[in-house]
This record gives sequence, C-alpha cells and structure tokens, in this order.
Amino acid sequence: MNVIVYKNYEELSEAVAEKMLLQISLKPDSVFCLASGNSTELCYQILVKKIVENSVDISKCSFVGLDEWVGIPPSNSGSCHYFFNKNLFEPLAMDASQIVVFDGMSNNLEEECEKMDRTIKQKGGIDFMIVGVGMNGHIGFNEPGVSTDYYSHVIQLDEVTQSVGQKYFDTPTKLQNGITLGLKYFLESKTAVLMANGAKKADIIKKTLEGKVDINIPATIIHNHQNVLVAIDEAAFGKTSAD
Ligand code: GLP
Repeated sequence: MNVIVYKNYEELSEAVAEKMLLQISLKPDSVFCLASGNSTELCYQILVKKIVENSVDISKCSFVGLDEWVGIPPSNSGSCHYFFNKNLFEPLAMDASQIVVFDGMSNNLEEECEKMDRTIKQKGGIDFMIVGVGMNGHIGFNEPGVSTDYYSHVIQLDEVTQSVGQKYFDTPTKLQNGITLGLKYFLESKTAVLMANGAKKADIIKKTLEGKVDINIPATIIHNHQNVLVAIDEAAFGKTSAD
C-alpha cells in the first residue's frame, strides 16, 4: 500500500487525473471503475479538461459506475448516473458502449447484478478503480459488516449512509437500498486508488490506515490489495493548520 498526502483537494484531484491519463496511455482499452461523490468530482472535471485540451483518444476505454441508489432515476440530480452524465459521459461525448452503470430503477435487481458481472467479465475485469470512503468506512455501498466475497449485489443502506447521502439531493429523499460492485471487484482490480479529502474524513482515514482488515470498516480491505494508492489531502490526513 502506498499513501500520498497532497496539500489540498485541488492538488489531490490533479494528481489522480494525471494517473488516469497515464493509465489510458499505457492501456488505451482500459476498464475504469469510478466512484461518484464529492471526493472524486474535481478529479473528473480536471480529467475532462485535459482530455479535451490534448485530444486524448479515450474511444477504447470503458467506464463502470461503482454504485447506485435503488429507486432513484438518472434524471434525479442526486443519482450516481446523473453525476457521471454531468461530469464525464456528456462532456466527453462517450459512446453508450463505453458506459456501464447500474439501473437503480430496474424491477429485477438480481438480473441487474448478473448483467453487470457479465459485462465486466466480457471486458476482461477492472484495470483501474477509484473509490471514495464513506463516513462509516464504506466503499461503494459495501456497508460495515459486508462479506468480502461479493461481486455485484444489493444491500440495505446503513443509517449513516442514509443520512449522509442526503447531501446529494435537493429535497429529503428516502434512501433504503443500494446496488453496488462488491469488495471482490476492489480486491481483483489491477490498480486501485482510494481518494479522500477534508477534515471530516480524518477520523475514518486514520482508522483505515492504522487498523488491520476489519469488515466493520470496509475500507480497511485496502490492506489486502496488491496495488493500492491512498490519495488524500492534508486535512483528511488529520493535519491541521496548527501542525
Ligand atoms: C457515497 C458513495 C460512494 C462514495 C462515498 C464517499 O455514498 N456510495 O461511492 O465514494 O460514499 O462519498 P463522498 O466522496 O461524497 O464523500
């Protein structure tokens, strides 16, 4: 495990965007799995700018969405799909064949999981995975106590996730279940990056970095990954201006 502490959110975002570009140049048909959320948003915006400015060919890349709220349509600005449309898919005019996301509105979520697993398998697995960390230590919607043996699965959301998740929505929204790539995908990804910024993440980052694998803090699974970078800013590392 490699840990890099960047000065601030901007430098962290810039650095991870550069790593994504490097990945694309090394393997033009890379399969990315990406988390939505505040931690990763600026990184994708910087990535888009660099791709457009430098005419980087991403036509062979695929982008897999890590998770989705069950029952929330892509038209809802709080959905993960909306986030990706806005920050990546539309600005890069991606072809539908490059985009792999869960349909949280499906009335057969089991089939939705099977479809996701089939597609990732067909594409040869995940080359580069970017995850955030929830306030309760979740990765994707792999909530505390989850099994590490799952590929795609549906899960009841933890109370912390239900309440913290409100930040993405314009109006109070009932968030009960999530559909997510499981931790098995995280462990099998060839390269993984865990991103976190801000003082509010300092406590969970400390627990994640210090502890051994404890499934009550799913992010501690990073200790079992062969090639993972923890990319955080000083605030998430617990550094205060007084330090
Ligand atoms: C959310 C999402 C994750 C995300 C994490 C952190 O609930 N399910 O995919 O990475 O929690 O979110 P944020 O970056 O907004 O803090």
